[in-house]
Amino acid sequence: MHIRLAPSILSADFSRLEQEIKAVEAAGADVIHVDVMDGHFVPNLTIGPVVVKAVRKATSLPLDIHLMIEHPDFFVNAFADAGGDIITVHVETGYHLFRTIDLIKSCGKKAGVALNPATPLAAASEVLTEIDLLLIMTVNPGFGGQAYIPSMTAKIAQARRMLDAAARPIELAVDGGVKADNSRTVTNAGATMLVMGTEIFHSGDYRGKMEDVRRRVGSWTP
Ligand code: DX5
Ligand code: ZN
Repeated sequence: MHIRLAPSILSADFSRLEQEIKAVEAAGADVIHVDVMDGHFVPNLTIGPVVVKAVRKATSLPLDIHLMIEHPDFFVNAFADAGGDIITVHVETGYHLFRTIDLIKSCGKKAGVALNPATPLAAASEVLTEIDLLLIMTVNPGFGGQAYIPSMTAKIAQARRMLDAAARPIELAVDGGVKADNSRTVTNAGATMLVMGTEIFHSGDYRGKMEDVRRRVGSWTP
């Protein structure tokens, strides 16, 4: 199957954001991953709807808005209006996940849920009837360039089994420390979407890097 590659613009050169996005699109990206951080849920601040609106103008690729923010319900509409296509919220940030997912869908967007490395998969098991994407964090969210937590491979494999049992089309995305070197491990475990920040944007050869990853994961079948 086609593994979807989602460059995370967190590691792009923000002084040339439009060119960076166009460059990864031209180099074969499938999705643009946008990391939104609030300085509360994670110890970093990044971008808001104004920048997402600019990103939207730079590409026709789907935008996956990864909300690493408390009270995501307050911001779903703004990120939907700004041009997000998939809106992903952390299960750790809300009391009423069905309500948040409903809100995302009521905006006509795809709904994703994300799990921190220490959060058990069971935290997402009740919403598999609703979601379009499950995002497994393989670093503690907040920064690009961190090391993949090796024990997460078993969690991805367990998530694969959970999604297969759900028998619905749900993207299994993996985010954090994904490199060409471990891409095959991650897709062998069952990931269908690879989020990659530093590995792509710090490579100097976006096409070469993504082709390298595709070569390594190419023969994976679900
Ligand atoms: C981390 C973000 C990631 C980050 C990944 O909190 O959610 O999307 O950009 O960056 P790398 O690929 O460098 O680990
Ligand atoms: Zn992310």
